[in-house]
Amino acid sequence: MSYIIAIDGYSACGKSTLARAMARQLGYRFIDTGAMYRMVTLHFLRNAIDLEDAGAVAGALEGLKVDFVPGSNHALLNGEDVEAEIRQPAVTNYVSPVAAISAVRRWVVPQQREMGDAGGIVMDGRDIGTVVFPDADLKLFVTASMDVRTDRRLAEMAAKGIATTRAAVAANLAERDHIDSSRADSPLRQAADAVVIDNSKLTLPEFIAAGMAEVDKLRAA
Ligand code: DC
Repeated sequence: MSYIIAIDGYSACGKSTLARAMARQLGYRFIDTGAMYRMVTLHFLRNAIDLEDAGAVAGALEGLKVDFVPGSNHALLNGEDVEAEIRQPAVTNYVSPVAAISAVRRWVVPQQREMGDAGGIVMDGRDIGTVVFPDADLKLFVTASMDVRTDRRLAEMAAKGIATTRAAVAANLAERDHIDSSRADSPLRQAADAVVIDNSKLTLPEFIAAGMAEVDKLRAA
């Protein structure tokens, strides 16, 4: 069986880490849908698109191509590898309002469905189990405490050489949590049939094993 596996949760909870590891173990394709919203955001920033101007937003989406490099899974915007750039604070601080625009979601979601329709996919995001693939074979909802999330995001940014402070990271996470879960279109929420994994106290191998255990249950069913 080639399953569709949906992984949702707040920012910096470890969704992508889990999705990537599970996809590797299963030989599936991994799609980081947040990267798609980040690519759109980078394109809007580069072209100084006014988010309030519906015509400008529609025009900027026309002909835009967001994809991933086969193998490395790097973000590919109109053929340009923008993996590093979309993780920079300029994009991170601007992406939630962009992802809240319905015209943007209407443009991104069908592409996500096309990528995953045939199965053999692990897709992570905010609305994968609720909107993109409401009939996914397995839905995981990943959580972690705010302290743990802040520490992880700080370490991630330090590793990339991005200068920031703990307070700034915590404020950005809190703000994105609020925008992501209170927006009108496809707000972040836990699907009724999702399995919750809180990884605050789990090691990375334990976290991955918890996700894989759910796949084993599916296979045994
Ligand atoms: O997972 P991330 O931090 O890269 O996501 C970036 C932003 O994109 C996040 O603020 C919420 C939004 N997003 C979304 O609205 N829907 C998704 N499926 C994935 C991300």
